Amino acid sequence: MFSLMFKRIPGTKDILPDEADCWQEIEGISRSIFSLYNYREIRTPLLETSSLFDRSLGRSAEIVQKQMFLIKGKEDIFALRPEGTAGIVRSFLENNLDKTYGFSKFYYIGPMFRFERPQKGRLRQFQHIGCEAIGSLDAALDVEAVSLASNLLDAFSVKDYKIKINSLGCAKDKEGLASRLKKAFRSKLTALCQECRERFDRNVLRILDCKKEACRQAAEELGIGDSYLCPECKSHFSQVKKGLDSLKINYVITPQLVRGLDYYTRTVFEITHKALGAQDALGAGGRYDNLVKELGGPDLGAVGFAFGVERLLLVHSPQSTVHSKNLVYLITLGEEAKKEGLKLLDSLRKNGIACDTDYEGKSLKGALRKANDLGAGYVLMLGEDELKKGTVALKDMASGIQEEVSAVNLVQALKGKICLRPIAAVN
Ligand code: HAM
Repeated sequence: MFSLMFKRIPGTKDILPDEADCWQEIEGISRSIFSLYNYREIRTPLLETSSLFDRSLGRSAEIVQKQMFLIKGKEDIFALRPEGTAGIVRSFLENNLDKTYGFSKFYYIGPMFRFERPQKGRLRQFQHIGCEAIGSLDAALDVEAVSLASNLLDAFSVKDYKIKINSLGCAKDKEGLASRLKKAFRSKLTALCQECRERFDRNVLRILDCKKEACRQAAEELGIGDSYLCPECKSHFSQVKKGLDSLKINYVITPQLVRGLDYYTRTVFEITHKALGAQDALGAGGRYDNLVKELGGPDLGAVGFAFGVERLLLVHSPQSTVHSKNLVYLITLGEEAKKEGLKLLDSLRKNGIACDTDYEGKSLKGALRKANDLGAGYVLMLGEDELKKGTVALKDMASGIQEEVSAVNLVQALKGKICLRPIAAVN
């Protein structure tokens, strides 16, 4: 009979348990590093009013124009969030955090949605690990953000990444740059790619970061450098560079880096990795000094960035197989041992020892094979003999050495051999 197998939607991903272990590792490292910098977690809804993104990212931004998943409500249009910054600023203001906390540092881990053509490293649902620091114009905060991003990558054991930075200047500088570009490119439109010809009307700054050779050359010929920056923005950028130098962070000044979201002002940065191919950005961010005000709040500067977890995983090699090595696998022989086994498992788990047993009715040989496949560090064997003696056979799967341990001392014996789950710390 014909039966229908459902498939996942293109551009989405099933994170199967082996990969989920790596996700947990990356998320765990991120949480501890963010807390070293005094960032606290914030969780905002996946759904927001779509106009929040029109207003923050800009109507002409590619994400707003083409990539939002929209849901029509009765009176409003909702969007699956394409990024985290706008929702966090919305939440910061709606919950009056500017008044209760003042300067605030947030981090977030969660899914984002963009209707893009799927390819390696480009999904329609992907995960951000990001942070936002709201309430300061201090250049030292830009330095801290870039160094935090770099420390996170080091902690994920990502090597050979490249940090690109630029300054877009304040809103006035950006306007000035846009009108200079309009003047300069108007007579060169035919030399640009089709997309850049559209960008000329929609968002002329984006022509600068086009990867096509002809557009790149046309942009280079303009020789703009940092001449569009006002003295204050020039000085801010110079403080950022000096701060990064003092921390010995390697970066490349990249005048073509303009970013695709309207809210950026002054410092912008992007971290790339060659191994990613066409979608080479592991993460990106920058300053957005006008967004809080633009969304109805006070005049507060802010900086943030986000990494794409799927891209991090393409360049990171997992460190640990701690989960499986710490697993204890119980094999029981006979009905009585099975009943006792249930109690034994319960007591191990209550003591923070991860364990499992056979629920498929396997033979001793089959159950041992299963323990091996699971990567269990230890196997416990409980049969009639052991029950009579009040013992358990404990086998070290790496060395093959087997010993007999008294059932009452089992927890103690295992605690000396394996790394415990967090519950043990609580008990
Ligand atoms: P973004 O550059 O749009 O910035 O995204 C940040 C990162 O998310 C990218 O560098 C990339 O690693 C990942 N990413 C983006 N789109 C996709 C996709 N379709 N599939 C897989 N990964 C993707 C932002 O979203 C800003 N909100 C960052 C920020 C925070 N700026 C200030 N604060």
